Formats: sequence, C-alpha cells, structure tokens
Amino acid sequence: MATAPTYYIKTYGCQMNERDSEIMAGQLDQIGYQASPTDADADLIIINTCAVRGSAEDHAFGYIGQLKQMKDSHPDLQLAVAGCMAQEPGTVAWIKRHAPHVDLVFGTHNLHELPRLLDEVSEHDETVIEVWKSAGDVVEHLPSHRNDGVRAFVNIIYGCDKFCTYCIVPFTRGKERSRELRLVVDEVRALADEGYQDITVLGQNVNSYGHDLDPVLDLADLLESLASIDGIRWLHYITPHPRDFSQRLIEAIAQSQKITHHVHLPVQAGSNPILKRMNRKYTREGYLDLVSRVKKAIPDVSLTTDIIVGFPGETEDDFQQTLDLVRTVRYDAAFTFIYSPREGTPAARWEGRDPVPNPIKKDRLNRLMELQYQISLEANLNMLGKTEVVLVEGLSRKNPNVWAGRTQSNKVVLLDRDPAVDLIDRFVPVRIEQAKTFYLSGCQAGAPLSGPAPRRRIELPLM
Ligand code: SAH
Ligand code: SF4
Ligand code: F3S
Repeated sequence: MATAPTYYIKTYGCQMNERDSEIMAGQLDQIGYQASPTDADADLIIINTCAVRGSAEDHAFGYIGQLKQMKDSHPDLQLAVAGCMAQEPGTVAWIKRHAPHVDLVFGTHNLHELPRLLDEVSEHDETVIEVWKSAGDVVEHLPSHRNDGVRAFVNIIYGCDKFCTYCIVPFTRGKERSRELRLVVDEVRALADEGYQDITVLGQNVNSYGHDLDPVLDLADLLESLASIDGIRWLHYITPHPRDFSQRLIEAIAQSQKITHHVHLPVQAGSNPILKRMNRKYTREGYLDLVSRVKKAIPDVSLTTDIIVGFPGETEDDFQQTLDLVRTVRYDAAFTFIYSPREGTPAARWEGRDPVPNPIKKDRLNRLMELQYQISLEANLNMLGKTEVVLVEGLSRKNPNVWAGRTQSNKVVLLDRDPAVDLIDRFVPVRIEQAKTFYLSGCQAGAPLSGPAPRRRIELPLM
C-alpha cells in the first residue's frame, strides 16, 4: 500500500490564522494526508500568511523564497500560499513574478475549498490562483485538527468592519459575520466532552459579536452561555475593541469565575487628533472612562493593550500623551508596534506626505517600551505572596527542571518540577515567590484541581 502523502503548515499572524490552519489540517486529514512534524519531508507545504505589518510579510516572503531550493530538489513537493497576504493583489503579482514555484494561492474566504483546489493543482502546470474578493456565508461543520491538550480556539465572528485607517484586516478578512450562538455552544459542549477545559473564542473584533444576528446579541450573552457548560473551566476572548465594550459585558466578566479577568483594551494612541485620524471612534477621555469602569467592577483585572507609534503626522506632543495615558492606566503589559504602511489604506497615503522619520519612530518605541517594562515589573511585584491557579503548558524552554504555564489572566508562571510527577495540562495552585518583567515564578501550593485526566503526552516548551 502506498504511504499517505504528508503535509506541513507554517502559520504566521494571529490566533484566527492558527484556527484556520487547524481547519486546513482537518480537511487534509479527511482526504488522506498525514501531518508531518517538519517541512523537510512533507509532500505539501502550506504557508498561512499574515499581512498586518511589513515585518510579518517579509518573514513569509523569505520562507517562500527558501522553499524554491527544496522544490528544485523535490519536484513533486506542492507549495501553497494562503491567509491574509493571499488576499492582497500585490502578493499575487509578486508570486507570479518571483515565485512561480508556488503551486497554489488561496484566500481567507475560500479555505473550505482546499481539497478541490489540490485536485486542480494536479491538473495544471501553472500556479492555481483562487482568491475570492469577498466573503460568502459562514461555512459551518468543516473538519478540524486541533492540538491535543486542554486549550482550544473557537471562532465566533469573522471579519472586521471598523476600517481603522492604518489596518489591512478589513480588506483581508471581509465584513463582520457572527456565527449562530447555538452552533458555538454546540461546538464548545462537544469540546468539553472531549476534555478541553480552557476555551478562547476568536474574532478580529469580538465585541461586535451578535450585532448582525436576529435577534441582536451581545458578547456577554455568548460568554454566559458558554460559562454554563459543564467541564469548561476558563473562557478567554480575543480580540476585543474598546468601542463596543458594553457595561453588560463588564458586569458579566466581574460576576464570573470562568470568564478571564484579563481585559485587553487596544488603545493604539493617547492623543485625540491621532485617534481621530486612526478612525478608532473613541476619545482619550472615553477610553479612560471605560478603563475606570472596568477597574471598578473587576478589582483584580489584568489590563493589556496594543499601541502604535509613528503614525503619520504623530508629533512629540501626541506621543507624550500616549506615554501619559500609559502612566495613568498602568497596564500589566502592552504590545507595542512601529506604524507600518499597508498598501491601499488611507494612512499609507498620509505616510507618503507626512511620515515620522525612522529614527524618531524607533526612539519613541524604545521610550514607550522602557516605561511599560517598569510598570509591568511593578504590576508583577504586586502578585508576590498570592496563590494563583496555573494551567501548566509544558517545560520551560530554558530549564527542563521547571514547568511553564499561565494564570487565568494570562500571566506566564514558572514552577519547580518534580520529574516524578507529570503536571502538563493540569490546573495547579502556585504560590508566587518571584516577579520579573515578563513572568512570575513560584512553587506548588496544593494538589492539582480535580478534573478530567490530562489529554496529551507531548511537552511543549513555553518560555
Ligand atoms: N482587531 C484588533 C487588532 C488586530 S491587529 C483591534 O482592533 O484591536 C493587532 C494589532 O496590530 C493592532 O491592535 C495594532 O496595534 C497593530 N497594527 C495593526 N495594523 C498596523 C500597522 N499598519 N502598523 C503597525 N501596527 C499595526
Ligand atoms: Fe484592524 Fe481596527 Fe478592525 Fe482591529 S478594529 S482589525 S485594528 S480595522
Ligand atoms: Fe495577520 Fe490576518 Fe491575523 S493580517 S493579524 S493573520 S487577520
């Protein structure tokens, strides 16, 4: 009997891309492929790309270039480019010109067509390009190949209609489309039956969940329904947007032990003129009011954010307002980015006229990171002496005598390991004894919480 063809999927970008890769893998399993642990001996390599910043694109372009050699020595190897870059006309033109060794390009809206497209590839010599410009209806009941373990991702809303002026996502992911609540609940119930206990619901903008459904729903309705499912211990949601963060949601989070008390509120900038030009549709004052309502309702909240520096026309005074906002809110952590022009977006045109010079962009990023690292350390120092439940994910990358995991509010925790006891996928109480900028460490402070037996044996290093 011939051996099954193998596949390897390289995923860049956000958790929505990771989830898409699980769905590609599920479809490939169903048509008889087998997953390969590396690209070296795969018969099919799919590059699931991200277009959010130039750096993400450069990584993918580099990898596509590298694969040319592999293809030269294995002419039967099939290469496919998928994901957000595939939705950009510029990428398709680049592949035609510089990477004719790519066999297939397919977009984010026609993921479900993968099996048919692979058939088409075997009938054609030229690159098969199938990129739908806009999204059709949500396709349900696709097979998927999830990671083992107790954590699972579940899509709840696709696309984004917010059109922030710097952002490519509305162009690569299309308009907002929510999944029916009943279907999400069924999926999570089935996951709970399989032993998954930590669920992350996904969308580019989860706070818009349900606004397009009839009757209209709020994200709080969905999270409360999911929290009532037996076996589900923790619920996370990414990515939220400050604009539609309802008071009802704040209260639902505050009252729930299952919904994470980690609230990610991407602010992007601290100055009103920049927020306006970014089309974020909130003001500094409105945002700070939201933060204080969140802090009041959820005293143990862990707040994080995303910030862009060097947006076209950003002055030193605008930037000072960002620093000032960071000092006021005191985030537990922040993801900080240098503005990257994205072709076709309004801000990319302004970048042509009124760019912040590169050295200034870098200097602002450094100053912002320095401030945030200091605040992150202080926030972590506040955790000393507390006992937190930690979901152990694997061995520490740096030290195999140490376990690494996360708290419900997403803080990384290291704990000493007794090699005779396997704690992977267990929820373990840990007393926090040391605090650093990016992680906490401590020692086990009791037996793992009771629950279903762990589901996996693979040890994944975390940090
Ligand atoms: N939907 C999410 C963001 C998804 S993209 C939201 O609105 O919060 C993740 C982060 O990437 C954004 O929050 C933003 O900080 C950053 N980002 C998006 N486009 C960018 C660009 N053109 N340049 C630099 N950073 C960008
Ligand atoms: Fe991009 Fe704005 Fe949509 Fe977030 S809300 S994905 S930043 S357009
Ligand atoms: Fe990147 Fe697309 Fe996600 S642009 S951040 S992979 S939605």
